[in-house]
Amino acid sequence: MDPVNNPESARARFKALGDNAGTDKTTYHGYHRFYPPHLEHLRQIEDLGILEIGYGEGKSLTLWLEYFPNAFVYCIDRDVESQGERHRVIKADQADPDSVDRACKLIQHPIHLIIDDGSHLPSHQTTSFSMLFPSLLQANGIYIVEDIETSYWLTGELYGNQTRYGLSCPWSAIEAFKLIADYTNRQCLAGCDLSLLEYRMALAGITLEAASSVSSVSFSQNCIIVSKSTASDATYWQRPYLYEPFTHRDP
Ligand SMILES: C[S@@+](CC[C@H](N)C(=O)[O-])C[C@H]1O[C@@H](n2cnc3c(N)ncnc32)[C@H](O)[C@@H]1O
Repeated sequence: MDPVNNPESARARFKALGDNAGTDKTTYHGYHRFYPPHLEHLRQIEDLGILEIGYGEGKSLTLWLEYFPNAFVYCIDRDVESQGERHRVIKADQADPDSVDRACKLIQHPIHLIIDDGSHLPSHQTTSFSMLFPSLLQANGIYIVEDIETSYWLTGELYGNQTRYGLSCPWSAIEAFKLIADYTNRQCLAGCDLSLLEYRMALAGITLEAASSVSSVSFSQNCIIVSKSTASDATYWQRPYLYEPFTHRDP
C-alpha cells in the first residue's frame, strides 16, 4: 500500500527521516505519531512551499527537504540568514510583526504548511498564527504550533522571554486554540455566547479573520495542528442553524 493510504508506514518513514536528520521532532517530541496523516496529501503538490519559524541548527529543515522532495522551504529565524538550492533562511523576529511582514514579502512560493518552532512564547505563537494563517497559508493548508508546553508554565524563561502562564490562563496559546475549536462551532452559539467567545479570542490574541478560516483543530502532546478551510467549507457556516431554538434560553 502506498504511504498516503497507509498511516503506519507514513509515520515510520517520517520518523526515520527525522531521526536521520537529528531533529528532536521525531526523538524527544515524537511528533511522527501525529503529523503524517495531516501532511501526506501535501507531498503530491508540485509547487509546494513550506515556512518554518525557528531554524535552530537546520535539522528540521533537512527533514522537510527529504520528506517533501517537491518543496521549497523557508525559515524565519532572528539569528540566522542563509540560502540553498531549495531553501532560504530569512532573518526576522517573530516578536515583531513588521519584521515578519518584511520576511513574508521575500517568499515567492505558495505556502501550504507553516510550522511554528520559534520562540515558543504563547503570545508570539498566537500573534504569528493570527498574522500568517489568514494571509500566507493556502486554502487546505496546515499550520502546526509546536512546544505548547509553555502555556502550562507558571514561571520560566525561554530565548530571553519570561513565561507567566499556567493551566487555563486566558491568554495562553492552548486556551486560544481551544476557543478556536469553539469558534468552528459558532453556528450553534446564541448571540450573547458568540460575543463572549469573540471577546475571549481577542484577549488571547486571535483575530476573527484567522479564526473564521479554520476548518479543524487537533490537540496532541505538545503540539496543535490546524487546517485551513476551503471555499466549499464556507458554505457549511453560511446556512441557518437547524436547531436554532435550542441556543436561546427561555425568558
Ligand atoms: C527550537 S529551535 C528550532 C529548531 C528547528 N526547527 C529544528 O527542529 O531543528 C528555535 C529557534 O527559534 C529561534 N528563535 C527564538 N526566538 C525567536 C524569535 N523571536 N524570532 C525568530 N526566531 C526565534 C532561535 O534562534 C532558534 O534557532
